Amino acid sequence: MMFTLYLLTAIKVLVMAKQLKNVLVVGISGTTNSGKSTLAYKLLKHLPGCVSFGQDAYFLEPGDPRLDCLHDSDANDYNWEDYRALEMDKMVYDVRQEIQEKQENNSKKCSVIIVEGFSILGWKPLSNLCDLKYFITIDRETCHDRRKTRVYNPPDTPGYFEKIVWPMYVQHLEDIKSQEDIVYLDGLKSSDENLNRILSDIEMCVKEKTDIE
Ligand SMILES: Nc1ncnc2c1ncn2[C@@H]1O[C@H](COP(=O)(O)OP(=O)(O)OP(=O)(O)O)[C@@H](O)[C@H]1O
Ligand SMILES: [Mg+2]
Repeated sequence: MMFTLYLLTAIKVLVMAKQLKNVLVVGISGTTNSGKSTLAYKLLKHLPGCVSFGQDAYFLEPGDPRLDCLHDSDANDYNWEDYRALEMDKMVYDVRQEIQEKQENNSKKCSVIIVEGFSILGWKPLSNLCDLKYFITIDRETCHDRRKTRVYNPPDTPGYFEKIVWPMYVQHLEDIKSQEDIVYLDGLKSSDENLNRILSDIEMCVKEKTDIE
């Protein structure tokens, strides 16, 4: 069963490699605290010339009037998990610009662009740009435990995880389940194990064409 799944992924990756130009866009999404940024950072270190776009950089600033409609009186906070709390169109624009620049480079080497964030695969224009798509999952308890060790800006209000983060995540997972090209990774595994899986898919993609930049 596992072998068949792996074979199918390998075939999919090889078919995709034939359609690729000199850019490979790798989408990394997942539960909050599943290890997305850790993986993106490790990929950046392994792939010289690689660039990464993190969704966190596209949050609206606290105080922005566009957040007003997202205030949740029950949680006494804004719903930061909602797409309207982010400048998603700007993120799509920036990634497209980067792809275009790399393609115009006409380099024979393949450049890797990482797109990372908790809901990037649910935003269709962004998901459509990704050649490889990963979603890291962790269970609720691990997620909550890891999140408690972090300090966000603005910080989580009491009950924010239970009232907003987890229900929004469950809904998000439901929304993306029809995308059959998403590979689900286990966030309880070591980040190096997941890194190696992604690196081997990337290598498989670019081997057919040329080297990685
Ligand atoms: N595979 C792993 N096993 C155990 N702990 C991990 C693993 N990956 C990341 N962590 C830890 O979990 C926490 C969150 O990691 P990271 O910032 O990479 O997650 P994230 O998915 O980007 O979170 P966020 O939702 O804040 O964007 C960190 O404390 C990190 O050290
Ligand atoms: Mg992160």
